[in-house]
Amino acid sequence: MRKLTYFIACSIDGFIGDPGGDGTSMVRFVDEEFLAFLKAEYPETVPTHGRRALGVDDLPNKRFDTIIQGRGSYDLALKEGVTSPYAHLREYVASRTLKESPDPNVEIIADDLVGKVRELKAEDGDFGIYLCGGAQIAGELRDEIDELVIKTYPLVYGAGMPMFGSGFAISEFALESVRTFGNDVLVRTYSRKR
Ligand SMILES: NC(=O)c1ccc[n+]([C@@H]2O[C@H](COP(=O)([O-])OP(=O)(O)OC[C@H]3O[C@@H](n4cnc5c(N)ncnc54)[C@H](OP(=O)(O)O)[C@@H]3O)[C@@H](O)[C@H]2O)c1
Repeated sequence: MRKLTYFIACSIDGFIGDPGGDGTSMVRFVDEEFLAFLKAEYPETVPTHGRRALGVDDLPNKRFDTIIQGRGSYDLALKEGVTSPYAHLREYVASRTLKESPDPNVEIIADDLVGKVRELKAEDGDFGIYLCGGAQIAGELRDEIDELVIKTYPLVYGAGMPMFGSGFAISEFALESVRTFGNDVLVRTYSRKR
């Protein structure tokens, strides 16, 4: 089974963005040390245009070969005129309204999101699936998530877009690792207890 990993940036109080989803205030914590970590451990989570700007677009994928995002999250790239923000991965976008994919590398999932994710998880392969967000799709896929990688930035929002846009339910995870950075960022990895 391939793992579905929710790799996500959030505030100390668990918000992935302001009430509209904007997480721009976290970007300033991506300093030299943190960028070196991303390049070494998770190069495929840096969008293609960002990799190009950093001169690292030839870095091989380390953990994931597939990405899933909701249309809300994909819209951010579309608004910038980028139709394939993760061209180095197989891209899936959940949407019932995007009738046609804007890019040959992007497949739209319109029906049976959970079924499609189960199908992807059942494929052979050493690489996992990167669940990018946002909140709504993470909420819908919560039961399918095998791993959480939570980048916590030293900010309190008080309110905002939650990590999971779903109702109350308890799921248990085991802490696998914690990495701390000089600028007070934390990256915690949890595996799902089944
Ligand atoms: N902090 C971070 O690391 C991080 C990472 C990613 C995103 N974000 C933020 O998250 C925000 C977006 O989150 P969001 O919750 O508004 O939206 P989202 O989860 O990205 O996307 C929601 C959309 O996905 C589609 N969808 C949901 N369930 C579906 C299903 N079962 N089948 C088919 N399509 C389905 C629908 O698209 P249609 O309306 O087209 O049907 C829905 O409107 C952005 O503002 C972004 O900044 C933050």
